[in-house]
Amino acid sequence: MAALADRIASFFSGNDSATDEGLRDLFISELKSVYYAEKRAVDALGDQAEASTTNEVGTAFVNHQNESRIQVERLEEIFKIIGIKTDVYPSDAIDGLISDAKRIVSGTEPGSLTRDAGLIIAAQKIEHYEISAYGSLLTLANMLDFSQSAELLAKTLEEEKETDRKLTILAESFVNNRSKEEEEQHPGSHHTNRHTPISSDATLGGTLGI
Ligand SMILES: [Fe+2]
Repeated sequence: MAALADRIASFFSGNDSATDEGLRDLFISELKSVYYAEKRAVDALGDQAEASTTNEVGTAFVNHQNESRIQVERLEEIFKIIGIKTDVYPSDAIDGLISDAKRIVSGTEPGSLTRDAGLIIAAQKIEHYEISAYGSLLTLANMLDFSQSAELLAKTLEEEKETDRKLTILAESFVNNRSKEEEEQHPGSHHTNRHTPISSDATLGGTLGI
């Protein structure tokens, strides 16, 4: 078995055309797959906005839906730059995540905060999927010297991370508001510490402790 460093050195010195071709094919199939995911996400975000309970959560979904439309266009630009036909490659992963989001809507009461909490969880799972997909595509683009594509992918990746951060802030505001309400209703109650949130880096699960 060859050492990774040797293989990489040979690749970057231009002496490994089989790897170059393989990575290019991988880049194209991953690109088609994220294109499929992004288009599905645009539709799903509209459904999630409609199903949400609070204005804050609804607005977050609508804003990200608009952003995702631009992300779809960016991907179409990449297809053009690398000279291949725009095409989708269906992804079971995103189909599953979107079905999970739909199950949350059908399993929660309309107008409940539980629904919004569930929708945030589902949305963050989709964001994390997209972050890993764009992150991998960016790495491949850098390896293949696709600098224009890399620039566009980096822009989208940053937007996805920002959306994820905003969803975490929304999730944390649920916990903070609940604590505030309980403090108003039962002064001193949260010195018992039951609801002191432990900060999570990226997911609602951590903040709600579920
Ligand atoms: Fe996206």
